[in-house]
Amino acid sequence: MSEHNDTIDALSNESRTFAPPATFAAAAHINDGALHAEAEADLEAFWARQARELITWQQPWGSVLEWDLPYARWFVGGKLNVAENCLDRHVAAGFGSKVAIHWEGEPGDTRTITYADLLDEVQRFANVLRSLGVAKGDRVNIYLPMIPEAAVAMLACARIGAAHSVVFGGFSAQSLIDRINDAEAKVLITADGGYRRGEVFPLKPAADEALAHTPTIDHVVVVRRGGNDVAMTKGRDHWYHELMAEADPVCAPEAMDAEDLLFLLYTSGTTGKPKGIMHTTGGYLTHVAYTHRNVFDLHRDRDVYWCTADVGWITGHSYIVYGPLANGATQVMYEGVPNYPGNDRFWEIVAKYGVTIFYTAPTAIRTFMKWGADEPAKHDLSSLRLLGTVGEPINPEAWMWYHHNIGGGRCPIVDTWWQTETGGIMISPLPGLTVTKPGSATFALPGVNIEVVDDNAQPVEHGGGYLTLTRPWPGMLRGIWGDPERFVDTYWSRFQGRYFAGDGARLDDDGYLWLLGRVDDVMNVSGHRISTTEVESALVSHPAVAEAAVVGANDATTGQAIFAYVTLRGGQDVDVATLRDHVATEIGAIAKPKAIFFTPDLPKTRSGKIMRRLLRDVAEGRNLGDTTTLADASVVDELQRRAAETPSED
Ligand code: WTA
Repeated sequence: MSEHNDTIDALSNESRTFAPPATFAAAAHINDGALHAEAEADLEAFWARQARELITWQQPWGSVLEWDLPYARWFVGGKLNVAENCLDRHVAAGFGSKVAIHWEGEPGDTRTITYADLLDEVQRFANVLRSLGVAKGDRVNIYLPMIPEAAVAMLACARIGAAHSVVFGGFSAQSLIDRINDAEAKVLITADGGYRRGEVFPLKPAADEALAHTPTIDHVVVVRRGGNDVAMTKGRDHWYHELMAEADPVCAPEAMDAEDLLFLLYTSGTTGKPKGIMHTTGGYLTHVAYTHRNVFDLHRDRDVYWCTADVGWITGHSYIVYGPLANGATQVMYEGVPNYPGNDRFWEIVAKYGVTIFYTAPTAIRTFMKWGADEPAKHDLSSLRLLGTVGEPINPEAWMWYHHNIGGGRCPIVDTWWQTETGGIMISPLPGLTVTKPGSATFALPGVNIEVVDDNAQPVEHGGGYLTLTRPWPGMLRGIWGDPERFVDTYWSRFQGRYFAGDGARLDDDGYLWLLGRVDDVMNVSGHRISTTEVESALVSHPAVAEAAVVGANDATTGQAIFAYVTLRGGQDVDVATLRDHVATEIGAIAKPKAIFFTPDLPKTRSGKIMRRLLRDVAEGRNLGDTTTLADASVVDELQRRAAETPSED
């Protein structure tokens, strides 16, 4: 864990504390220790109560939990439908005219979608999917911008019992191919294009490129958003609006088993191939509804909630679509970037809709810091009462800036730790109860059991170690699609009988948890997980490249930045810009290395293993320690010289 020493030192100096404001605490769902006590007394009974109170079941479950390590089954025998929980029951309870989504397009166009509207659209689209041959148990791929149809498509799949696999719109055609083929999806839902930084970015052309290599896709549904010209293949491609105009308005929700697959979401691991994380129905919905209600202290009669994530990531799944809608929340959904047309767009939106709960990523906060406090100061942000962060550790300065300049010094901040694999939030303050420290995610939520352990799996009471989960939880992943062995290897083999998250963590003297970032070869760039191997494979797939090593180096804005060291094949030449574009084509623009260094050799141990720690030291401009295990120490001198000379690109 030596690479984390700097972070540990920086964080251990933090001594400020922030108690929940008395008025906030008084009105909060959770403001005493009863929930913790309940969960500690009987974990299964605790989760059963959440499932009963927050979720509507078509048929009750038999047993709460069957735990056959590493496989958990929650609410066994229970039947429910996720779309029914997110829509029908709210409409039936008289909330049909309540706004579900205040949608704001980047150019400034808006849509106001009530729960009744959303239910209508989801039923129609569910019938559309059926008419295209999608049946219970099938997989559907979704490749859309941040438009309401993304939520509609996900909920329509849930309604008929098909699993969705959403691919972030910023991913390349190649990434889409890999994900469609791994899931053997039957239908792809995409758009002509979407708006980003004032321009239309085309999606359908990338989808077309992918579709030449995806034999399982029978039909493509195209939402018109960008207005850009697209080619439509007769018989295969259909316009969303045309199909919807013809669709039957009523579609009864399928009775799904609690353990039926709800969705796959692909995420980077330590090898090049993304993992299809499997989430099921009853436990997942219980977990996201419980955490969304209590971590964000959602009061659905008065809150306007806004999560700035993209639906293509797990945060968008759990805290834009499933958690908020299950809880009947009113939320804002925004299509574009935070700096169009000006650097104050987010704050304009907060003021316009009277947002009360705002959830974003530390990398965004650091960017706002760069743009200056004048930007939020232009707008009335007094509606805000709670702020949240997710995706990476938040440094105390960014926390304090957020607290003062966005929260006006009055809003609790919930720093939420979780993963694609955990399905929902695991570690976070409860805003009406927990005394926070800037930079600490504080404690495990009631119902979540965490232990920081050392290399020998011994619990650590003070200081650093590895973050593990000791008991199953309802939202946990149920496996990796098509690869049970990798599921066991990745999460369950490092520490016997425990889930290993891949993160380092430290416990301070008061028992607060400080997350320290990944301890494996996964980088965290702007809150997005990208594996070093994935970028290395992309680089090596270029004909001029012989070998590549990639590391994540600390970066003041994006958390980590991708640094690549590349050795070219004899007689070949290629420039940095071409290689960066090549990575964007292979994976997506988010995986473009910030800097690429050409080197005649990579530093390797005598057994041939690339010494990443050393490359990270070079990238972060640190003095190198012991290099005696290196096969050829002169390589490193050369790299350091080049690093000092080469400007990195943005
Ligand atoms: C990191 C995003 C520190 C962590 C929901 C984890 C965090 C990975 C935090 C999961 C946080 C997420 N503090 N680190 N509050 N939240 N992480 O799957 O390294 O995209 O393992 O899920 O993000 O990323 P993922």
